[in-house]
Amino acid sequence: MEKIALVGGSTNNIGKAIAEILAGNGYHVIITSRKEDEARAVSENLPKKGSYFRVDYSDASSIDTLFSFIRDKFNRLDVLVNNVAYTKNESILDCDLATWEYTLNTNLRSYYLCTKSASEIMKPQGGGAIVNITVSSSRGTKDKFSYMVSKGGVNYLTMCAAIDLAPFNIRVNAVGSGLVGTPVGYREYVNRPYENGRIPIGHIGEPADVAEAVAFLVSDEAKYIVGALLPVDGGLNISM
Ligand SMILES: NC(=O)c1ccc[n+]([C@@H]2O[C@H](COP(=O)([O-])OP(=O)(O)OC[C@H]3O[C@@H](n4cnc5c(N)ncnc54)[C@H](OP(=O)(O)O)[C@@H]3O)[C@@H](O)[C@H]2O)c1
Repeated sequence: MEKIALVGGSTNNIGKAIAEILAGNGYHVIITSRKEDEARAVSENLPKKGSYFRVDYSDASSIDTLFSFIRDKFNRLDVLVNNVAYTKNESILDCDLATWEYTLNTNLRSYYLCTKSASEIMKPQGGGAIVNITVSSSRGTKDKFSYMVSKGGVNYLTMCAAIDLAPFNIRVNAVGSGLVGTPVGYREYVNRPYENGRIPIGHIGEPADVAEAVAFLVSDEAKYIVGALLPVDGGLNISM
């Protein structure tokens, strides 16, 4: 039986690497982004051809439509990777209500909605695996107000959902990324040299570094790992 994986925001950087590695591991991967053409192109170029769907994760009804598509086309889901994120890079003083709501809706509400809808498919089929992409940092960060608040929410969402869903053999875990590939919202390495003396291992990470951790957490080898927050950051957080 073919296993189905949904990767949120999978046309660039970390999400794209996750999709590529899961497809290489034999999954049928559903690529998602707001741009249908890009999603189609990525899905067609995976190691194993996947599907694609245009969705806006800031919009609850768009997420509903995505899950209707999944139920109609596959009627199963083995893996969900919540990966999408938005950041305006603002301080609390620059965070207006619209920024707060857009960031929280994109980065946290979507993880809740996708986790719930995915679980409703996974529960009757006997289980599944969910991985949330968060930050490795366990500290406050300057000028990242609504983004970091949303990631704090993702961490607690992971732990609470993990406890609620473990009895149904649905394992929920998180991978905390450090500086990896391009910054969130960018397609280039802006202000991000590869070599970085602040990071104990000496350089920023590659998208595949995070993706390999995700692939492990959804695999049977991780069958006893529930509610973990696995940092993939070259040692950055523990050194700060
Ligand atoms: N990059 C880092 O150094 C870093 C560090 C720590 C944590 N992280 C975390 O890693 C995850 C991935 O980050 P990334 O840097 O790989 O992100 P990214 O390069 O900005 O890629 C985001 C992906 O999501 C899609 N997307 C964005 N907003 C969307 C929306 N509203 N609806 C649907 N799709 C949307 C984008 O495609 P479209 O724009 O075409 O929709 C793209 O495919 C995030 O959760 C982030 O917080 C990243």
